[in-house]
Amino acid sequence: MEVGEKVVYPMPSYVLYRTVAQIQAANPVEIPYDETFTFPLQALIEAQGAVTFIASPNSPLGNAVPLDQLNTLAAELKGILIVDEAYVDFTDQNALSLAQKHNNVILLRTLSKGYSLAGLRLGFAIAKPSLISDLNKVKDSYAVDAIATLVGAAAIRDQAHKTLNVEKVLRSRSMLKHQLEALGFRVWPSEGNFLLVRSPQQSALKLQQSLKNRGVLVRHFNVPGVEDKLRITVGTDEQNEFLCRLLKEEIMTSQ
Ligand SMILES: Cc1ncc(COP(=O)(O)O)c(C=O)c1O
Repeated sequence: MEVGEKVVYPMPSYVLYRTVAQIQAANPVEIPYDETFTFPLQALIEAQGAVTFIASPNSPLGNAVPLDQLNTLAAELKGILIVDEAYVDFTDQNALSLAQKHNNVILLRTLSKGYSLAGLRLGFAIAKPSLISDLNKVKDSYAVDAIATLVGAAAIRDQAHKTLNVEKVLRSRSMLKHQLEALGFRVWPSEGNFLLVRSPQQSALKLQQSLKNRGVLVRHFNVPGVEDKLRITVGTDEQNEFLCRLLKEEIMTSQ
């Protein structure tokens, strides 16, 4: 891609899109979601990025983009559409059919989420052979080591284990949602392994800092639309219970 070309993505979304655009000296163009978090399809089409990044399900919002809207976007964009499916295992749709149909669609997957193998640092792309061979021209020579390749291939072969893992996260996500709602939090619908929540009283930043002081890390994003919210990754049931105990104490001491 050329210096100054547009890299377009909706906002809020994955924070690294801006960083990777800046590393390439591209021009990051951020299209805001409205307050209902409705996918800004028309504005994304009008922006006509050389590259457009869409996380589906999105982080930190948790919502997936309907396939018909991704299909329209792919058809209307002259540039490349990257559908980042990092959280695909926690939802019941995927964009594989779009990568088969369109010459400009690249799907990104990672083993960090559904497989819980974030430390492996392994992901992959799915696209038409012509696009993959263009990517091969510019990728690092030794991007993936032999151990990650072997472990990753074994993990992908063992779909039964991945399904059990995902089911466990989904059960814990649902329990955590109910526990947080019982504490008065607003919890947004999530198709990821995290929940976007708003505290009944404290500012999100203050709450994030008090939790950090007590050893629990949750994310706060200083981005319009989510600056009053926290993104909480679903932990083990014990970790989630510990978090809820701390939150209860925080709420009681702030009253
Ligand atoms: C939307 C999205 N895409 C990609 C990633 C990258 O994951 P990893 O670098 O662990 O493969 C993340 C991680 O948080 C994410 O939220």
